[in-house]
Amino acid sequence: MIRLSTRFAGLELRNPVTLASGTCGFGREVADLLPLQELGGLFTKAVTPEARLGNAMPRLAETGHGLLNSIGLANPGLDAFVEEKLPWLRACGTRVFVNVAGRVAEDYEAVCLRLEQEEALSPPFGRLAGLELNVSCPNVKEGGISFGARPGPMAELVGRVRRCWSGLLFVKLTPQVSDVGEMARAAEGAGADGLCLINTIPGMSIDLKTRRPRTITNTSGYSGPAIKPVALAQVWQAARAVSIPVVGIGGIQHGHDVVEFLLAGAHAVQVGTASFAEPARARFMVDELQEWMVKEGVESVEELVGAVRPW
Ligand SMILES: Cc1cc2nc3c(=O)[nH]c(=O)nc-3n(C[C@H](O)[C@H](O)[C@H](O)COP(=O)(O)O)c2cc1C
Repeated sequence: MIRLSTRFAGLELRNPVTLASGTCGFGREVADLLPLQELGGLFTKAVTPEARLGNAMPRLAETGHGLLNSIGLANPGLDAFVEEKLPWLRACGTRVFVNVAGRVAEDYEAVCLRLEQEEALSPPFGRLAGLELNVSCPNVKEGGISFGARPGPMAELVGRVRRCWSGLLFVKLTPQVSDVGEMARAAEGAGADGLCLINTIPGMSIDLKTRRPRTITNTSGYSGPAIKPVALAQVWQAARAVSIPVVGIGGIQHGHDVVEFLLAGAHAVQVGTASFAEPARARFMVDELQEWMVKEGVESVEELVGAVRPW
């Protein structure tokens, strides 16, 4: 018997494969394309207090080995999320994590406080698995990465949110720091229950005909297969620095990528850009992971977590 389930922070996911924020909308958008209830979970698009249109077009550009995006946290806003998206998410059959963003700390607090109140009204079976605090978005002028680039401001934000939200709190880190271990420890010290990493990395592509950058913000967030080695290194370093669990993200395309992230210390992974090329890719990764485990004689996902043998 192969055990695909993974347990961390008092939570159990049926398998370690989840969908990354910003690449599966609020679940419903992709529900016809893959069976969400066969995944470990999903992380919603960022929710901010006010509705946001995001940046102007062009805000997506494909490159040789990845994707540039400057979406800019487009979302319908907190009220619309609670009224139109949350009821569906509560019944969608997989673990749901809500990605929270804002320009200032009060924005994060407002979203978390409202979700805390909504949770109190929800029957236990429909409750959210947790929140994912986005302190790492490179595509907005205020908020986002400005909180996640230094330990002090991030710890202060995490501490403030911690007082508004009693459920599981994951903090999504950026790789744009000199010491990810220091950031990981700061989040843990401020009350985070887990870490998710990495968010996108700043990148650029230029159209030779127009000589214009291919996204409206000139530089934008780079994701996809090219960033996988960066993400793995960050996950490994963060996982060694803290005792809270880590969720790995970045360029995951196949079951063997999932295994690498587990070995590096992740308890689960998020699949982002790969879903754009093939919407059901995450679901296939669950089968690929299982096939690999059978072939290698590995009985449970949990025995892979952190089992890398460093030199
Ligand atoms: C189009 C797009 C939108 C994204 N939106 C968000 C977002 O709203 N919040 C967030 O935390 N991350 C967002 N991300 C980052 C992803 O969740 C993920 O961290 C990143 O893409 C790396 O994973 P990947 O290489 O598998 O895509 C977005 C990524 C893409 C490509």
